[in-house]
Amino acid sequence: MVDPLAHVDPCAYYYDADYPSARDGGSNFDSVTGDQGIAYDIDRYEELARTTAGPILEMGCGTGRVALPLARAGHRVVGIDISRPMLEQFEQKLLAEPSEVQERLLLVTQDIKDLDLEERTFGLVTLAFNSLFFVTSDSAQRQALASAKRHMRPSGLLAVDIVNDIYIKREGIPEPKAFFTRVNPMTGNAYTRFDCIGPCDSEGRQRIYGHYLEVDIESGVQTLPYEMIWRPLDRNTVENMLVGAGFTIDVIEGGHRHEPYTATSQRMFIVARA
Ligand SMILES: C[S@@+](CC[C@H](N)C(=O)[O-])C[C@H]1O[C@@H](n2cnc3c(N)ncnc32)[C@H](O)[C@@H]1O
Repeated sequence: MVDPLAHVDPCAYYYDADYPSARDGGSNFDSVTGDQGIAYDIDRYEELARTTAGPILEMGCGTGRVALPLARAGHRVVGIDISRPMLEQFEQKLLAEPSEVQERLLLVTQDIKDLDLEERTFGLVTLAFNSLFFVTSDSAQRQALASAKRHMRPSGLLAVDIVNDIYIKREGIPEPKAFFTRVNPMTGNAYTRFDCIGPCDSEGRQRIYGHYLEVDIESGVQTLPYEMIWRPLDRNTVENMLVGAGFTIDVIEGGHRHEPYTATSQRMFIVARA
């Protein structure tokens, strides 16, 4: 039997259900989104966008969870991503948007570490929801921040949102753990995502892997393995990288509602100035 999902990028296929939008995530926008760190981030980006003049650059925009609401709110947004499957999903969603929203969004397939756009006057650049971690070497992460700086106008703001270090399991989690059960919007079926995490390697990279298990009433159980690599960073290292790229740090918050940053904060939300 031909497996219809054999050639699908599972991370892109399930992205909108795994990380539902606070604006149109439907019933998938459940209590787990708070633990995931995506319950309030869009509000925070909208707040920042209201204070910064000029267009917004989203580095690692994925399927538009953040970029789309910003464009709907009237901002011009350039979204960059290295993954064609993620951008294709974004492009598909854009077709359902009014023409003025479509016109405010430009999607570009590029590696953010070598970003090279004609436009270099961005007032706000976002590295939302751990995107910096998905650039997986020290030099590439530094280059991505330098790219951001090159594309900004003086005094523009860069927002970097990452998991607070204390919650990074550097030793890994070897046993598959059911993370959540949600609905796949493409099929209407329930699916469960199982996660494992490998230990950090000598370069600080970690393999996050597991499988999606989706039950279809006709074809039975479908299992789709997935894998991604990230390179988590602690506070000192990110600060050092930002300063090295020419930024000054305005504020480090512990969440998306201006919570003070403490050692036990869930997130590290950094606003830096070009
Ligand atoms: C965790 S997702 C975040 C997506 C979106 N910003 C959000 O908040 O939902 C990270 C995104 O960064 C993209 N990415 C990873 N490395 C990249 C690189 N070197 N250049 C551009 N995009 C990259 C991935 O394809 C993915 O879409």
